[in-house]
Amino acid sequence: MTSSTAPTTSSAQDQWSAVADVLVIFGITGDLARVMTFRSLYRLERRGLLDCPIVGVAVDDWTLEQLVQRARDSIAATGEQLDEDVFQRFAGRLAYVQGDFGDAATYERVGAAISGAKHPVFYLEIPPFLFGRVAQGLSEAGLTAAGRVVVEKPFGHDLESAKELASELHKYLDEAQLYRIDHYLGKMGYEEILYLRFANTVLEPLWNRSYVECVEITMAEDFGVEDRGHFYDPVGALRDVVVNHLMQVVAAAAMEPPSGDDPDALRDAVVTLFRAVKAADPAHYVRGQYDGYQRIKGVAEGSTTETYAALRLEIDNWRWAGVPFYIRTGKKLPVTQTELRVVFRAPPPVHLGLGAGEDRKPVRDEFVVKLDPSTGARLVVDAHRADGKGPQAITLDAEFADEGGEGATPYEVLLHAAIVGDSGRFKRQDVVEENWRIMQPLIDNPPAVHPYAPGTWGPAIASTLVADHGGWQGPWIVESEGDAK
Ligand code: BG6
Repeated sequence: MTSSTAPTTSSAQDQWSAVADVLVIFGITGDLARVMTFRSLYRLERRGLLDCPIVGVAVDDWTLEQLVQRARDSIAATGEQLDEDVFQRFAGRLAYVQGDFGDAATYERVGAAISGAKHPVFYLEIPPFLFGRVAQGLSEAGLTAAGRVVVEKPFGHDLESAKELASELHKYLDEAQLYRIDHYLGKMGYEEILYLRFANTVLEPLWNRSYVECVEITMAEDFGVEDRGHFYDPVGALRDVVVNHLMQVVAAAAMEPPSGDDPDALRDAVVTLFRAVKAADPAHYVRGQYDGYQRIKGVAEGSTTETYAALRLEIDNWRWAGVPFYIRTGKKLPVTQTELRVVFRAPPPVHLGLGAGEDRKPVRDEFVVKLDPSTGARLVVDAHRADGKGPQAITLDAEFADEGGEGATPYEVLLHAAIVGDSGRFKRQDVVEENWRIMQPLIDNPPAVHPYAPGTWGPAIASTLVADHGGWQGPWIVESEGDAK
């Protein structure tokens, strides 16, 4: 098979991006399907966007009736109102193949179940150590020639293992056949950052080092690791959300406009940006762990895994040189919110509306895009108030739900993109490798982990990272309550 860099012919590319005529889900009896996949597919069915059979594959000895029941229970458990007609249409698409992923006969049975399909999509909701085995099985059974394979993170645990995983998969699949999910690429707020930046003259000309003082990305979660100790403890915040999700937010905030509308133009723009990001410096990295984390089932005794991470990145290009990008994320923080905040440079002092001889330094303007728990945009400007308080910061807010609704959920967007062959919604290996390169020094030389109390904004020392730029701003939810940290 060809590697990620080898050229592929356009007819092969066309085959691999054709609309799917069957969706095969490996691991359909697992947790991700229960929590996310059934609901997303059901919602696609309701919107009239599902048009192919769905074949589930797993080792469990289930009947089709059991699978249908699992689908029904899973959708209901997400709080979705079940429309019986829609569900019946969706259930009518389901089939089930039982089999061990290590057994060649399983792939023969999958082949029989999808016989006649020309453009299958194989979605691997399975642990990454099985990706290679399943890719091999599919390839040896002759099922991948005109199909594609969708995989879930993690894509390695550092740069080297990410490369190893890719070379294992490239033995059986071309890079163009691999669709790597980062659910942030399906978020409405993510797409909106790009659109707002490039479609608005009041934003883009200011979006650079001449006007921007710093950029802050906050992903705060008010819940803890709970029952995910086994998964989380070997991973930690940096690998769980920074190297993937939050780096995508960095890309949306900092990249140049794509040169065209094909999926690779967008991904080329992303990788070009990442190549300009300097490898992160452990001297500007703070790690924290909330009190009580070590009592969670699956967490190793004396674990030093971070549940909080804050760091500074620098981008070495004409647009961003000298503008720090700060990222912070943590579990058990005071709120759940993800936002991008662009902090503009302060203007010189003004004396308008003040007493004779007085002047005042206006607050810095900020532009915020909120990605979670709802999507919205906020402009913070310095303004005069009629209620006698004098000039101060005011906020101009827009909740996107009030402007056309919340839109589709990330997994709906991504599963639909996988089905129709929109590869631009998925991560290319060069992007994955750039992300690991940037984070690798933090993995190799992690600073000590600081404890923090649940419900606080992480270790106090994290504020030193941003001290030169006025401290952490926001996030929006807390700020509205007058308690920004
Ligand atoms: C997942 C992480 O990838 O993203 C979780 O494993 C995290 O730890 C989640 O909570 C956050 O996603 P979202 O869409 O809720 O911001």
